[in-house]
Amino acid sequence: MNYDANGALLTCEIPGIPMINRGKVRDIYDLGDSLLFIASDRLSAFDVVMPEGIPGKGKVLTQISLFWFKLMDWLPNHLITADISSRPELKDYAKDLQGRAMIVKKAKTIPVECIVRGYLVGSGWKDYCRDGVVSGHKLRSGYAQADKLDEPLFTPSSKAEIGEHDEAISFDQVISMIGQDYAEQIRDLSLKVYKTAADYARPKGIIVADTKFEFGVYGGKVILIDEVLTPDSSRFWPADQYKPGSNPPSLDKQFVRDYLETLDWNKTAPGPHLPQEIIEKTAAKYREACKVLTGSDI
Ligand SMILES: Nc1ncnc2c1ncn2[C@@H]1O[C@H](COP(=O)(O)OP(=O)(O)O)[C@@H](O)[C@H]1O
Ligand SMILES: [Mg+2]
Repeated sequence: MNYDANGALLTCEIPGIPMINRGKVRDIYDLGDSLLFIASDRLSAFDVVMPEGIPGKGKVLTQISLFWFKLMDWLPNHLITADISSRPELKDYAKDLQGRAMIVKKAKTIPVECIVRGYLVGSGWKDYCRDGVVSGHKLRSGYAQADKLDEPLFTPSSKAEIGEHDEAISFDQVISMIGQDYAEQIRDLSLKVYKTAADYARPKGIIVADTKFEFGVYGGKVILIDEVLTPDSSRFWPADQYKPGSNPPSLDKQFVRDYLETLDWNKTAPGPHLPQEIIEKTAAKYREACKVLTGSDI
C-alpha cells in the first residue's frame, strides 16, 4: 500500500493476488470467482493522473456508489459485498481496504460509455451551438448554456483505449457494436437510473447535470458495473448556485481543473504537482458531496 505525505492512498500492492487492471483511479484484483475493486485516492484531470492524491476520495467514491446500489435495489449491479473481512485472503489489508473496496462480479464489459445529460453543458452544449444536434437528437432552439433539457438525453461514447479520449457515437453505432437488444437495454436503464437519481438529489440541493454509466454482461444478463453517480462520473451542481447561461461550479475536482488552467501545462502526462490548498479544498468538496447525498461522512 502506497500512501503519499497527506495520507492519500496512491496504489495498492497485494502480493499473491493477481492485479488485472490499474485504471486511472481503480486497482482491480482477480479473486478467482470475483474481482476486488479498489478505489484509490488518485485523481485524474484531463485524463492525466496527478502526482498527489486526494485523501479520502476513494472512500467517497465507494460509499456513494454503495448508497445508490442500495437505493436502487431493483437494478441488477455488480456488487457482491463491501465487507472485505469476509475474504480471509485479504485479512492483512482489511484496514486499508474497508470502505474503499468492493468485491464485485466479474462481468464482460460492454465497451460503451452510457452518458445521460439532463442539462446542456460541456460537449453537449458545444454540439448544440454548432448545429443544434446532440448525439443524433435534434433539439429545439432557444436553449442557453446549462439549461435543463426538456427530456434527459442518452448520448453514448465509445470507451477509449488507454491514453485516448472517448469519442461520441450515435445510437445506431451502439446497435451495430453490441446489437439492438443490449443497446436498448443499456439506453433504457441509463435513462431510468439517471432520472431516479436526479429526482432523489434535487430536494437535497444537488442537481445531477449529467452522468456516465458502464454496463457489463454477467450470466447472460446486463448488469450495472463500475462506479455509479459519483463526483468523478457525474456533474453535481449545488442547486443554490445554479444559473442558466453560464457553466455552474461542480462538487468535484473543479478546483483542480481551474488551477490547471492557470498553468502552462499541455495536458499530457506527467501531471503537475498540486498545491496543498487545492488538495485540501478538493478533499472537502468530495466529502461534502458524500455527506449531502448519502447523509453520512466517510
Ligand atoms: N464488475 C466489473 N467487471 C469487469 N470490469 C469492471 C467491472 N466494474 C468496472 N470494471 C472496469 O474497471 C475499470 C475501472 O477502473 P477506473 O480506474 O475507473 O478505470 P478508467 O481509467 O477506465 O476510468 C473500468 O475499465 C471498468 O470498465
Ligand atoms: Mg473510471
